[in-house]
Amino acid sequence: MGNEKKNATSSDALLARIQGNSSQTLDFVGWIFDGLIIHDNSNIVEFCCGTGKQTLEFVKRYAPSSNIYAFDIEQSSIDHLESQIEESLKKNTTCRCLDFNNFKKVKENLPESIDVFFCSYGLYYNNHALEFLTLIKSRLTENGQIIIVGPYGKNNGELYDLLNECDVTIDEHILYTSQRFMIEIIDWMTDHFKDMEIKTERNFIAWDSADKVFSYWKNSTFYNADLQDTVKKRLDKHFKLHTEFINSKFIMKAKAKTFLP
Ligand SMILES: C[S@@+](CC[C@H](N)C(=O)[O-])C[C@H]1O[C@@H](n2cnc3c(N)ncnc32)[C@H](O)[C@@H]1O
Repeated sequence: MGNEKKNATSSDALLARIQGNSSQTLDFVGWIFDGLIIHDNSNIVEFCCGTGKQTLEFVKRYAPSSNIYAFDIEQSSIDHLESQIEESLKKNTTCRCLDFNNFKKVKENLPESIDVFFCSYGLYYNNHALEFLTLIKSRLTENGQIIIVGPYGKNNGELYDLLNECDVTIDEHILYTSQRFMIEIIDWMTDHFKDMEIKTERNFIAWDSADKVFSYWKNSTFYNADLQDTVKKRLDKHFKLHTEFINSKFIMKAKAKTFLP
């Protein structure tokens, strides 16, 4: 498996990236849940839950009165998540290892009705994302909502510029998922729903050492081991002149509800 694929699903790489992002300026989970209204007895479905950064918040806030279903392709991430759920809340929480490209299995595992569908930084791993959303919509209740969170625009711009200087080619598919994918999601939502809410944020991550930037890159989907020495030298040059490397994360939350006739 190449670095792109391995780092896309590995729970260790995900935990390392979360750790690497800890100097960010935004309370990401707080931003996601801001303004979210979920009624009692809802079925909440999350895909690409990873190690459960947002799932645990869904569980804490809603599991006493709602059912949470969390899916990810990586068993070790699911195990990590399950180990963090409070015993008393486990009866309303289903965490399962599932590849969302396998539509047959997805259909078997989804609840018959979905009140909230949530996916953060993951929907682009589906090879047929719009068909997948259409499947989700077919189970969505009349007042149900779909919430997709992901990157857009000049996301990772500073880091990509530095890597480009070192001849690291960022794969076209990675640029598509990181910069343009969310726009397709908005187009799909506009075609199917009456009420939409789009929130965007520019979040800065400040790394205070070359090692920290390097570690983030190493755990990313755009790592290239062949060019590690060139990148290390370029980072050392940067830190001779500056105390930090600042990278921008452009993030978007797209929410849709109320079907169009
Ligand atoms: C960048 S992480 C996002 C984790 C979390 N949602 C967050 O925002 O912090 C992407 C997640 O998508 C999962 N994933 C990748 N391909 C998948 C697939 N085919 N089916 C289900 N999950 C997948 C990975 O295992 C990983 O946990």
